[in-house]
Amino acid sequence: MTSNIDYIDKIPNNVDLGRDRVLQRALEHWQPAYMGWWYDMGPNESHNYDVYLRTAISVDPEGWAVFDYVKMPQYRWGIFLVPPTAGREVNFGTNKGQPAWQDVPGEYRSMLRRLIVTQGDTEPASVEQQRMLGMCAPSLYDLRNIYQVNVEEGRHLWAMVYLLHRYFGRDGREEAEALLDRRSGDVDNPRILGAFNEPTPDWLAFYMFTFFTDRDGKFQLSSLAESGFDPLARTCRFMLTEEAHHMFVGETGVGRIVQRTAELMAEHKVDDPDHVRALGVIDLQTVQRYLNFHYSVTLDLFGGDVSSNAASFYTTGLKGRYEETKIDDDHQLTDATYRVGTVKDNRVADEEIPALNALNERLRDDYIGEVQAGVDRWNKVIEKNGIPFRLRLPHKGFHRQIGNFAGFHISPDGDVLTEKQWNAKRDEWLPSQSDYTFVQAMMTGRVVEPGKFANWIAPPRRGVHTQPIDFEYVRFN
Ligand SMILES: [Fe+2]
Ligand SMILES: [Fe+2]
Repeated sequence: MTSNIDYIDKIPNNVDLGRDRVLQRALEHWQPAYMGWWYDMGPNESHNYDVYLRTAISVDPEGWAVFDYVKMPQYRWGIFLVPPTAGREVNFGTNKGQPAWQDVPGEYRSMLRRLIVTQGDTEPASVEQQRMLGMCAPSLYDLRNIYQVNVEEGRHLWAMVYLLHRYFGRDGREEAEALLDRRSGDVDNPRILGAFNEPTPDWLAFYMFTFFTDRDGKFQLSSLAESGFDPLARTCRFMLTEEAHHMFVGETGVGRIVQRTAELMAEHKVDDPDHVRALGVIDLQTVQRYLNFHYSVTLDLFGGDVSSNAASFYTTGLKGRYEETKIDDDHQLTDATYRVGTVKDNRVADEEIPALNALNERLRDDYIGEVQAGVDRWNKVIEKNGIPFRLRLPHKGFHRQIGNFAGFHISPDGDVLTEKQWNAKRDEWLPSQSDYTFVQAMMTGRVVEPGKFANWIAPPRRGVHTQPIDFEYVRFN
């Protein structure tokens, strides 16, 4: 096993693909189908652009990537796993202490395939959701960033498809094809998970998505990186290094929108949302409504609060908790309990349930902690400009479609309302059609002059890699 990537092969890899002819042929057969998908569903009109992208050249944490101009269809998508850890074991569940599996344990085969397919399906979905946004990018810097996210989501699909082809034979190959057939938002053949079928219609939605939903990706990948199935753990570890950039794009994107708005509010001494909008920036109330939407649909991605599937994934050793090996307990959870939210007598309440059944909720809580820290950083930007408004996360039960709160009408403050009461407030809490119309009207046409930014967003603090902010990050040819 080398950590350097073989770029001589048609498919860049560090898994010695050349030594497994059958697998190599199968992947070389899938590759043109993948390229067909990219041409159809990848970023609109982008195929001939030169984009200043990073490409992975090694899995070493230091210096794993190079930056250069690339036409996206020529991006070197490939298969990169972090090197194996000698003597690694299954670290949790009933198989704890056994050597980590290098092959799929027969009795867990379908469960494992389902985990891999579900993760894999999210990767092309987000590319599909974002494919029109390049047409209205606020700067070359931001355009380059969305393209970077898109090519890396494409690579994440490769990561999961490699596992399907390498370890699941014929049905793995069929699943790999189906990953290219489903389409985000398609009525007949949608993506597997709800949030990945929602449109991402504008750049505020894109930044919210990369902040909230790519972070769900981080937490799912982190718990799969604990897997007793070693190839899955190793591929997810490397995916996490790429994921960090996606969340950076989201957090700084929302932060720059909030900054621009707060600066103009302070300068012009206005706080009425209509007056704020008249300055050509997005009012903070609209930012809050987008936040409420993306947060709540992303919370659903973690699954039911009480879940026997999550318990099985854990007891078998296939999917751990966030940072499993850093947790100081028995890693079996047979007697432990965990507190989950629910509705009792028309009020939100807590109940203790067996910790094994609450693993989705536990991962969701870990996620919420990290998200809250990001919201606090946005609020610092607002505060620094002397504006009293604060963004906040709505109650966990707000606008949920999955889990204990599904079917209830819960306000952002956590009050249980009637459907009628809730609907009367809906447009205060979630983006309305007129919010979307307003935001999209602001984002017609893209800003293509190096160093220039749309009026509704502040420039970033620094450019990409070693380049200045006014670097020509995309050449349109
Ligand atoms: Fe991803
Ligand atoms: Fe991502």
